[in-house]
Amino acid sequence: MATKATSSQKYLQLLLLQVTLLGPVSCGKVLVWPTEGSHWLNVKIIIQELIHRGHNVTILVSNASLFIKPAEATEKFEVYNVPFETDTVENLIRHTVALWLDNRPTTLTFWQFYKELGKLSKHWNQMNRLMCDAVVTNQELMAHLQESGYDLVLSDPVTPCGELVALKLAIPFIYSLRFSPAFTLERHCGKIPTPPSYTPAALSELTDSMSFSQRIKNILSYHLQDYVFQSYWGEWDVYYSKVLGRTTTLCETMGKAEIWLIRTYWDFEFPRPFLPNFEFVGGLHCQPAKPLPKEMEEFVQSSGEHGIVVFSLGSMVNNLTDEKSNIIARALSQLPQKVLWRYKGKKPEALGSNTRIYDWIPQNDLLGHPLAKAFLTHGGTNGIYEAIYHGIPMVGIPMFADQHDNIAHMRAKGAAVELDFNRLTTQDLVNALNTVINNSTYKENALRLSKIHHDQPIKPLDRAVFWVEFVMRHKGAKHLRPAAHHLTWYQYHCLDVLAFLLTCAAIAVFILVKCCLFCCRRCGRIAKRKKD
Ligand SMILES: *[C@@H]1O[C@H](CO)[C@@H](O)[C@H](O)[C@H]1NC(C)=O
Ligand SMILES: *[C@@H]1O[C@H](CO)[C@@H](O)[C@H](O)[C@H]1NC(C)=O
Ligand SMILES: *[C@@H]1O[C@H](CO)[C@@H](O)[C@H](O)[C@H]1NC(C)=O
Ligand SMILES: *[C@@H]1O[C@H](CO)[C@@H](O)[C@H](O)[C@H]1NC(C)=O
Ligand SMILES: *[C@@H]1O[C@H](CO)[C@@H](O)[C@H](O)[C@H]1NC(C)=O
Repeated sequence: MATKATSSQKYLQLLLLQVTLLGPVSCGKVLVWPTEGSHWLNVKIIIQELIHRGHNVTILVSNASLFIKPAEATEKFEVYNVPFETDTVENLIRHTVALWLDNRPTTLTFWQFYKELGKLSKHWNQMNRLMCDAVVTNQELMAHLQESGYDLVLSDPVTPCGELVALKLAIPFIYSLRFSPAFTLERHCGKIPTPPSYTPAALSELTDSMSFSQRIKNILSYHLQDYVFQSYWGEWDVYYSKVLGRTTTLCETMGKAEIWLIRTYWDFEFPRPFLPNFEFVGGLHCQPAKPLPKEMEEFVQSSGEHGIVVFSLGSMVNNLTDEKSNIIARALSQLPQKVLWRYKGKKPEALGSNTRIYDWIPQNDLLGHPLAKAFLTHGGTNGIYEAIYHGIPMVGIPMFADQHDNIAHMRAKGAAVELDFNRLTTQDLVNALNTVINNSTYKENALRLSKIHHDQPIKPLDRAVFWVEFVMRHKGAKHLRPAAHHLTWYQYHCLDVLAFLLTCAAIAVFILVKCCLFCCRRCGRIAKRKKD
């Protein structure tokens, strides 16, 4: 029985390999509507793989983009001009990070925090609309895109407009997404179910096992975030209706996505319901470690049996205050390990001889090095996935966006210790690093996640590319689309049926009561007459 199962599994694997690796008979043309920052770093991996498989990929990017630069010759860029500067993007990112660092939401500041976040989100949306306008109202550009004969748009719903461009070009589109606040887009537009009793809302820092009060917090998080982040939908609804020349909404348009590629997987997520057109491809950017540059390898080897700690706060935070950087440097100097720190700010005075600062580090290769002992991280999804891939325990200093959530997930799975950036002390940092390095449970849990991650019939990148190619081959994936898209909210929850059944029951009870009363009265009257 067991051998039969394994042989049929092998056969299936072979078949899938053939489909995914040798599949595309003809090559397609993909248009990418990208999002800044780590979103771009992740989708770039899919783009490179598509190019590697012979597809033509064009990236539609504004001239004010901060991260997305026409760089490698293999990637084709279509640059459009927007009436704002790169500074605008940079400022918005800085303000967003600062909001989280200065006002990390507590029970008391919950409302204040989301109000501020709502304001920032409004600015992001205004900027996005300028970008959108620069493309869809540019007739020359649209005509050029039309002539180019694209097969598919690869977009990120966090930056709206990719779907609008796709609809204008009359081609299917696919999303690549980590999450939207409260899963608003996934839930309302993608129709994925999220039972709030065990599915923690994004940004709530909760896990899948919640106490009564945590479930209250969870439900409030969903509704509050829905309220804040849907407040700007109205403007998009008007805009989309105007551009498409018919009454529509942002959400209805987004709901037309053929496939949602979600950048997580069950090694990271808590199990929850999903739909057939949602594919979880977390860690698609992870690769086996490549050799390090010579000087770096020598430094790593000099750590001997103690090994190394890899430290990065991500691509968005380049600069710390002197006070913070010295607290961190002093803690690192007390470790027996060697530390490689990615940091672009001023060199801290307290920097120990065991710590080296680099403008950039080959993070994946360092985490995959046999001497890697721990990862000190801000908790971005990309970095966490590299640690999961290589089975490295983490110390998280989350700063903004989904980072607190990500670390909460890793902590719940026993692979990380969390520290508060604002209240960071030297001793806490030393203790946290010593804990994940000395206490073997963290390493064991990290290795367990790593094994889950590696034990998949098809690698996440191959699955992501498979679905891109599938949608190009079949001009969509309508067979995976749930009928929920055609229902109103009260039909979806069967409230109309419930109301009907309740009414029927009420009428039945009413008639029953009336009959009883009638009979009683009759009986009473007969009894009375007999007595008389
Ligand atoms: C892809 O681009 C190359 C060079 O720009 C071109 O020669 C080729 O015909 C394109 N392929 C498709 C399928 O459009
Ligand atoms: C982008 O192009 C517009 C219009 O040509 C110009 O006003 C703007 O300064 C440009 N932005 C950047 C960052 O080059
Ligand atoms: C880094 O931060 C300091 C103080 O917070 C500031 O004066 C400096 O301009 C910043 N440097 C960069 C490159 O952002
Ligand atoms: C953890 O290990 C380090 C050496 O790696 C040692 O200095 C420290 O005392 C250990 N801490 C505990 C609590 O065992
Ligand atoms: C190691 O960490 C786990 C989880 O935090 C804890 O339960 C256990 O007591 C720790 N072991 C030691 C020896 O400190």
